[in-house]
Amino acid sequence: MCGIVGYIGSNGACKILIQGLKRLEYRGYDSAGMALVGNDGRLNVHKSKGKVANLEQTAAAGDTEGCLGIAHTRWATHGEPNDINAHPHVSQSGDIALVHNGTIENYAVLKKVLSDHGVEFKSETDTEVLVQLIEYIKLTSNCTLSEAVREALLQVEGAYAIAVVERGEPDTLIVARKSSPLVIGVGDNETFIASDATPIIGYTDKVIYLENDEMAVIKRGEPINIVSISSNLPSKIDIHKLRLSLAQLEKGGYDTFMLKEIFEQPATLCDCLRGRITPDGRRVVLSGVELNKQKFIEAERITLVACGTSWHAALIGKRLIQDFCQIPVEVEYASEFRYGNPVLGPKDIVISISQSGETADTLAAIQIAKQKGAFVYGVCNVVGASIPRATDSGTYIHVGPEIGVASTKAFTGQVTVLTLLALAIGQLRGAIDEEKVYEIASALKTMPKTIEETLKVDTEIQKLSRIFTYAHNFLYLGRGYNYPTALEGALKLKEISYIHAEGYPAAEMKHGPIALIDHEMPSVIIAPSDSLYDKIISNVQQVKSRGGAVVAIVSKGNTAMNDIADFCIEIPEVPECLTPLVASIPLQLLAYYIAVNKGKDVDQPRNLAKSVTVE
Ligand code: F6R
Repeated sequence: MCGIVGYIGSNGACKILIQGLKRLEYRGYDSAGMALVGNDGRLNVHKSKGKVANLEQTAAAGDTEGCLGIAHTRWATHGEPNDINAHPHVSQSGDIALVHNGTIENYAVLKKVLSDHGVEFKSETDTEVLVQLIEYIKLTSNCTLSEAVREALLQVEGAYAIAVVERGEPDTLIVARKSSPLVIGVGDNETFIASDATPIIGYTDKVIYLENDEMAVIKRGEPINIVSISSNLPSKIDIHKLRLSLAQLEKGGYDTFMLKEIFEQPATLCDCLRGRITPDGRRVVLSGVELNKQKFIEAERITLVACGTSWHAALIGKRLIQDFCQIPVEVEYASEFRYGNPVLGPKDIVISISQSGETADTLAAIQIAKQKGAFVYGVCNVVGASIPRATDSGTYIHVGPEIGVASTKAFTGQVTVLTLLALAIGQLRGAIDEEKVYEIASALKTMPKTIEETLKVDTEIQKLSRIFTYAHNFLYLGRGYNYPTALEGALKLKEISYIHAEGYPAAEMKHGPIALIDHEMPSVIIAPSDSLYDKIISNVQQVKSRGGAVVAIVSKGNTAMNDIADFCIEIPEVPECLTPLVASIPLQLLAYYIAVNKGKDVDQPRNLAKSVTVE
C-alpha cells in the first residue's frame, strides 16, 4: 500500500525512479510524484493524479536533472487522490521533501502543535505533518537533517517507511522504517531504496532489509550508516542475495499479469512442491516443521490468521489440519484476532498466511501471538518480507512475484503448502496413516499436470463469461473443502469486475439467501464428486426450482449434472482435500473474462492495493 523508491548514484535518477514506480504500481495507483535533487543542489518536485504514466508525462515537461531522488505511488488514506495530496510532501520553506508509506496516527496532535507555531499546511495528509516537523526541529534545534529526522520519528506514532532529501544536499538520502517495509539495494557506487525488491532487480542482487526502528543515512561515496532510531546505536548490516529475475516481473506475452499468473500455476506449483515430498511419495519434509518437531508434537491447538484470499486458504488449511492431525484448529481474520484478546499459551501454534508478507493486520496478529507465548509459523510468498522475519519459523510458497492485484497463484500455492504442512504435522503426531499420506502426496506430485489439464477449460469459460457479463449479482456455493473455494471465487469476481458476489456454504442457502434467487441471480456451484456430492445436488435443485441459472463445477465424467444445471464445467478428479486447487482455476478464469468483457483494468482494480500495509 503506497510504494516508495529512491536512488542515489551517478546516473539520472528520474528514469530509474519512474521505472521503479511502475514496478511498484500494484501497491497503489491513485497518484504519484517524485523529488529530484540536481547536482547543483536545486530541488524539483513533480506530482500527478492518477497512474505513474501521468507523472512520467508531467515530469518530462519539467526539470528532471539530478542523480538523487525519491518517488512515491499512492493509495490514499488521508485526503482524496489529487496533486496536492500526492507525495512527495515538502516542508514550509520548500527545502525538505519526503515520501511516506504507512500512517502517522498522532498526526492531528502534531499538526495542531505545529500550526500553533505558525507552520502552514497545504495538504490534508498525515505525511505532511512529518516533513513539517522535521523542518521545525531542524530550524529550532539548529541540527543536521539526519538528527532532525531521528528526533521527529521519536515523536511520531504509527507506521512508516520514509525517504527524505534536502535542497542543497545532492549527496544525502535518508530512509527509516517502522512497521512498513523498506529494502536497500547496494550497487557499485549507487544505492537504491524501495518498498520491496522489485524496483531493484536488474541493478543489483545485493540487498539490506531495513529492520523496524532503523534509520539509514546514505551518503554518496560513503558506506551506508544504519542506526537504531530509539537508541541511536549503530546496527549490524546484513547483506542478502536477491534471487529474482527480470523475466518474473514481465507479462511474458500475456495481456495482463493476472492471466499470466493464472496460466503459470502448473509451473509455480512445481516450484512450491520441489524437494518437499520424498521420491517414494511416502513422506513430506518441511524444514520448518523438522526443526521444530517438539512444538508440533506438543501443540494443543492451532490458530490460523490471515486476511482476504489468504484467509480463504486458511479455512481450507483448517479442514486439512483437522483431518490429518486431529488437533483443534481455529481460523481468525488477523484484523479481528489482534483486537480480540486471544487466549494463547506455549502449547498454541499460530500459523500466519500472507502472500506479500507485509499485511499490517497479520503482522500485528503475529506480534500479539508472540507476546502471549505462542509459537508462530509463517506461510509466505515474498522472501525476506516482514512476516517471515517476524515469525519463529515457516515455509515459503515459492510461487514467484505475484503482480496482478487479485491473488491467484498465491492462493493455490498457499493451499498446497497448507496441505504439505498438515501432512507433515499429521505424520509427526502419528495421526495419519502411511497409505493416506501416499495417496495425497502422490496426487500433489502430479498436481502441476492436473492444473495444466484443468486450464484447458479456458475457451469454454471465455464463452460462458459472455453470457454473464452483465449480471449484477452472483452467488457462489460450495460445501466442505469447497465452501472456502466459493468464498474465493466470489471475491475474485467482486475485486476485478465490480459485480456483487457472495460466497455461501451451499446448505446455508435455505436459511436466508435463497430469498435472493430469481432468474437474474446466477449461482456458481462447486460440486465435485466427493463425499458431499449427493447433498449438494439437492442444493442445486433448490436454486433451479426458483428460476436461478446454475453454473456447476463438476468432476470429469459427471454427466448427471447436465440434466440439472444450466452449464457444467468439468475439472479433473482428485482426492477430496485437493479439490479446491482444481476448482479454483475455472473460478479465476470466469472472474477474469467477465472483467475483461466489461473493459475493467484487471491488474489494477479500483480502490485496491496489493500490499495492505495500513490498518
Ligand atoms: C485478494 C487479495 C487480498 C489479499 C489480502 C491479504 O485477491 O489479494 O484479499 O489476499 O490483502 O494479503 P496478503 O496475503 O499479502 O497478506
